[in-house]
Amino acid sequence: MAHLSRTRPNRWRPLITASLFALAVAAPLSAVGPAAEAESADPLAALSEQAAQYEAADYTADSWASFAAATADAEGLVEQGDATGAEGLAAFQDAADELVMVRGLDTLVADYETRAPGDYTAASWAPFADALTTASDVAGDPAATATEVAAAKTGLQTAAADLEALQGSFATITNDTFWNDTDGNPIYSQGGGVFRFGDTYYWYGVHYRGAESYRENPTRKFDNEVSFVSIPVYSSQDLVNWKFENDVATTGTGLYGWVGRLGVVYNENTGKYVLITQAGSGVAFLQGDSPTDDFTYVTTQGQIEGNPTEGTGDQTVFTDEDGQDYLVYSNAHGRAHAFVSKIRSSDSLHIERAVEVGYNGEGREGNAMFKLDDTYYVAASDLHGWNSSVSHIIESTSGDIQGDYTNEYTLPGTEMDYSHVTQTGFFVTVEGTEQDTVIFAGDRWADFAWNGIGYNQWLPITETGSGLRFHSVSQWEFNAVTGEWRVGPENNYILNPDVQADRIIVSDVTGWSRTGGTVGNVEGGANGSRFALRVNNGSGVRQQMEVPSGDYTLGVYTKGSGRVTVTGADGEAHVLNVPSSSNWAKRELTGIELPAGTATVTVSGGSGNLTADQFSLVRQGEGDGDGDGDSVRYEAEGASASCDGTIDANHAGYSGSGFCNSANATGSAAQFTVEAAEAGAATIQIRYANGASDRGANVVVNGSTVASASFANTGSWDTWVTKTVTVQLNAGSNTIRLAATGSEGLPNIDYIEM
Ligand code: GCU
Ligand code: CA
Repeated sequence: MAHLSRTRPNRWRPLITASLFALAVAAPLSAVGPAAEAESADPLAALSEQAAQYEAADYTADSWASFAAATADAEGLVEQGDATGAEGLAAFQDAADELVMVRGLDTLVADYETRAPGDYTAASWAPFADALTTASDVAGDPAATATEVAAAKTGLQTAAADLEALQGSFATITNDTFWNDTDGNPIYSQGGGVFRFGDTYYWYGVHYRGAESYRENPTRKFDNEVSFVSIPVYSSQDLVNWKFENDVATTGTGLYGWVGRLGVVYNENTGKYVLITQAGSGVAFLQGDSPTDDFTYVTTQGQIEGNPTEGTGDQTVFTDEDGQDYLVYSNAHGRAHAFVSKIRSSDSLHIERAVEVGYNGEGREGNAMFKLDDTYYVAASDLHGWNSSVSHIIESTSGDIQGDYTNEYTLPGTEMDYSHVTQTGFFVTVEGTEQDTVIFAGDRWADFAWNGIGYNQWLPITETGSGLRFHSVSQWEFNAVTGEWRVGPENNYILNPDVQADRIIVSDVTGWSRTGGTVGNVEGGANGSRFALRVNNGSGVRQQMEVPSGDYTLGVYTKGSGRVTVTGADGEAHVLNVPSSSNWAKRELTGIELPAGTATVTVSGGSGNLTADQFSLVRQGEGDGDGDGDSVRYEAEGASASCDGTIDANHAGYSGSGFCNSANATGSAAQFTVEAAEAGAATIQIRYANGASDRGANVVVNGSTVASASFANTGSWDTWVTKTVTVQLNAGSNTIRLAATGSEGLPNIDYIEM
């Protein structure tokens, strides 16, 4: 896949004509076209300068020989005064137009020669091997025509696209982090798309200068820092690991003003790859000979027939299964109309008549399309400027991409955190051997929340049987061969955990429902971020989520005081009491055992009001963290425990047949004898209730005090919660003793579990 950068024909070459050459200084060709340059006054020097832009290796041998001869002729005629400089250049240009470009085919053949038959099904390998042989023959044929070169490329890409890999593997997509390419360099790619040519995915987007600034300092906003750096292309087989290939366009390519919202199509007739982008106030077309080529500027289209205004609002490129390419877009001003246009089949250098498929008076942007099970979906965001929003969907009702669509609805799952705090960017549909999965490539480009620019968040969308579902996961694993995906091991199950989705001050924070009192978000989040959650004394919010069973850790940054409670589907509450602090402090509760089902995270304000940010609820593993895969419970009333008090049963909610009510005295204790499979750290959960003020205890292991634990008030003697301590145990039998440090004695102790 190595891309060889070569000396290339000058980018303005296709626009040079004899008549233009006659002008000493040409006028600009169009508002967004490449600036014309002053021409040399010496016609012979101009000719040889032009000829030097071409390289023999890029063309078939026969066409190069004719070209070289014609160039020499033209030079000779001009030298002898038998032709004017302009005539000489015209003759030269005619010869250049007859050149048959073979470089793009060479690149493809070299790439595909690296595939190994053992990795694919025999049935899919055979036609591919044939196409590769044909393509290689055409590439080596000195007399190959441009049509034959284009056909060989198309045949090879088609056979490669049909290769069926024997097995894929899961690779991990981690959102809410900056992404790097396979060389470890930052990926700067925004507002583009992923296109599959042959068996390879190519990701094109814009590298804006502001993306570098944002990455260097994510704790301030970068309003409108969208100066154009380049259009990089990355390649991948698994849609997760991206190899940087080339900058297909740069500031030297001739794009001016705003550049963004681009896509690339392959044209079967010309054998050219065409990049279509917003540039200035129109739609610009660039061409390359391979997906990773240096693309050259060709033309700009201002008006699309049937579009009320020139240019487009937002736009993306969609290629249907039959190979037909479309532009999906809204009109530039107001953005109320959603359009789907064909891209001209003959050369892909023109956008055809606009067909309106949707209308919303409020305006929509981030328009992008995907297809799943023969239905076309057009998605868009609210029109509020590089902000996160729910994703709005219209879907085709007759299987016709330019036919009727439903009314708009909100993509389920995007309302909880405004599409994982993004705006719709583009989609990648993967038709796997096991299932189809659509990747929602969201663009977190929200100046208001200091998120952006160039911050990619990719999420899976699946068809559930009753419609689409957007899965807002911070980490997931994807298999691009089978199309299967699963939640990643480090996924944060809390949505809108950084309280940034709303971007403005609100009293109902997206994703968090108010249980009462005064709540909202405030400016000044943890670690330099913009916003935090504020829950006043006696107030609360909660969020519910589906979790698999496991051992979880809750993390949160806090100021003020209050509590965060995680309640499992079994009704058991795990309480993180937040002591008062005036500066941000990281708080954590480990060893939270949750059964599969709906968990509830509740945030309650204490006397100092609670400011909280950067919530996380992450699964640590299967069980209780002691490594043996299943936890053992030691009841306080059980045979291996003793209680300096009475075993009572008068406060509901205990496990087993009762609990230890220790005497109200310093030193009164509950003691357990436990077995450890091996020596080392063990996470012990202590279940207790405390209807009085906070109480404390020493944790005494095998006779030595190793820790102290505080048991906060739980609200009533009937409310049982779990407190976690970590201690070192010997292999085999150990004693764990909780001894009261205050004259009130212990709270009521139900059991310990490890
Ligand atoms: C109450 C409560 C007991 C508890 C005791 C205490 O009497 O009913 O279960 O142990 O308070 O303060 O320790
Ligand atoms: Ca007691």
